[in-house]
Amino acid sequence: MNQPVMGGVVSINAPTYIKHQKLINWVAEVAALTKPDRIYWCDGSQDEYDRLCAEMVASGTMKKLNDAKRPNSYLACSDPSDVARVEDRTFICSEKQEDAGPTNNWMPPAKMRTTLHDLFDGCMRGRTMYVVPFSMGPLGSPIAHIGVELSDSPYVAVNMRIMTRMGKAVYEVLGATGEFVPCVHTVGAPLAANQKDVPWPCNPTKYIVHYPETREIWSYGSGYGGNALLGKKCFALRIASTMGRDQGWLAEHMLILGVESPEGKKHYVAAAFPSACGKTNFAMLIPPKTFEGWKVTTIGDDIAWIKPGKDGRLYAINPEAGYFGVAPGTNTATNSNCMASLTANTIFTNVALTDDGDVWWEGMTKQAPDHLIDWQGKDWTPEIAKETGRKAAHPNARFTVSATQNPVLDPAWDDPAGVPISAFIFGGRRSTTVPLVTEARNWVEGVYMAATMGSETTAAAAGQQGVVRRDPFAMLPFMGYNMSDYFQHWLDMGKKIESSGAVQPNIYCVNWFRTDENGKFVWPGFGDNMRVLKWMLDRIEGKANGVENVFGTTPEFGDLKWDGIEFTQQQFDRITSIDKDAWEAELKLHAELFDKLKYHLPKELEEAKAQLEKRLAA
Ligand code: OXD
Ligand code: MN
Repeated sequence: MNQPVMGGVVSINAPTYIKHQKLINWVAEVAALTKPDRIYWCDGSQDEYDRLCAEMVASGTMKKLNDAKRPNSYLACSDPSDVARVEDRTFICSEKQEDAGPTNNWMPPAKMRTTLHDLFDGCMRGRTMYVVPFSMGPLGSPIAHIGVELSDSPYVAVNMRIMTRMGKAVYEVLGATGEFVPCVHTVGAPLAANQKDVPWPCNPTKYIVHYPETREIWSYGSGYGGNALLGKKCFALRIASTMGRDQGWLAEHMLILGVESPEGKKHYVAAAFPSACGKTNFAMLIPPKTFEGWKVTTIGDDIAWIKPGKDGRLYAINPEAGYFGVAPGTNTATNSNCMASLTANTIFTNVALTDDGDVWWEGMTKQAPDHLIDWQGKDWTPEIAKETGRKAAHPNARFTVSATQNPVLDPAWDDPAGVPISAFIFGGRRSTTVPLVTEARNWVEGVYMAATMGSETTAAAAGQQGVVRRDPFAMLPFMGYNMSDYFQHWLDMGKKIESSGAVQPNIYCVNWFRTDENGKFVWPGFGDNMRVLKWMLDRIEGKANGVENVFGTTPEFGDLKWDGIEFTQQQFDRITSIDKDAWEAELKLHAELFDKLKYHLPKELEEAKAQLEKRLAA
């Protein structure tokens, strides 16, 4: 349904199955401002997906991969200036600056609206505006919410079809008056008459803007990932976190997995880790062979929406329908379930192209192919890489793939009721100080652990490496409101569960990344994380021991199952020891964080810190 320009004003021509007049009026308003040549209403069909991909192959935005190698898959390579989320261009424009808080960029909404009005005026000239209706979460689920993205990028439209429940059925759920989050996106590259397009249009000026009070998202200048697929970080975390604050639920940067014991007892856990800490790997974990009968299944790999159920327990859904994962480092040893997911029907972005029309990235195989076309379209050989250090794939190269391709997808992944959460896990990348696993003795202690979480920066992020950055709840780049109010919200949720009579989920802090004197990881990680997971589940079931230390309860060597691995008591001590001096230094960093967040910082957290200091000094 490509609608041509009629007398300089684009024809709206909404499909008759859309009954929501407010939505149609909003599309007309945005079209009047952005002035696209055409409006296309996405229906979410396979036909439409195939057609848009074929158009992008013809225009040079995507390459079709060799069908014999990777059926129905594509490679898109972005402009080298548009390769990652732009945190410094991300704004939370609440009416009051303190509602955005000290961890967010802020501008008064009226001022931002003026700036954006000028930028968006005519920004879609020469392009098609795609109307992309999507549900975050199973259609019609009481935990799900709906959004509509208007975008001038067909790459966004096809990625949204994989990442969300996108298409016609969304309008049935919306009816005539249903609520939706309006999301407007432009690559910011209008085309003059007869101007030839480039493969990856974008603009050096970028704005990723959220208005939490009116629940709107406006994104300008980037076509990449979280900047452009607005259902993900913008809606499902930043806007949804404010909805959760107002409505009494949680929107979290968490994977959700199911673990079933050989006896058939199943628990679901949700885990928050900052970027580059192995979240997708953990969500698709394969237990060691000696854990016969144990099964791990995935609900989600990045985001969890969690609402209290009638029984007072917390129920979670994965609001997404696909994975937008980092490719480099992924291989059959680190994540064979993920590699199996990527064998077909996948969009790759910024990986390298092999001579036989397949894809490759650093870490995919031990030996690199003799020749590749790298993500920037240049010849690449292992020799060139050695001489220049040039990577074949961008370190933030991605795959977009439907969750249904995951061989260990949990049967309840699409259940509108969600799954009950038995435990929350928080983990960062710390080469020292933080032990392998600690169980919080109570909800407040757990919230304290999550609030003060730190992680060492990696090569994946710009700036100095190995520096500990505080990343409360792994939400630092994704918070839609004041971080201290968010801590309070978590404390309130704990009280609410308690007063309902339901059992609060246990809270754990983990660290897979302690190193030895040579800087090598001591803990094998990946599938062996099952050993830690089992201890947690046994604790929940009241079947495992632990000892109390200054900041929680930890297992002793004998409390973990060690069959099938050579791991000594000495190695275990190395990754579980609590170094007093290191903890004193750590607490100074907690104090710095609390000082920064002092506006509305919950008293309970200051008290938890004082208790910890007292125990450490004893
Ligand atoms: C992501 C991220 O893309 O956390 O999921 O950066
Ligand atoms: Mn993420």
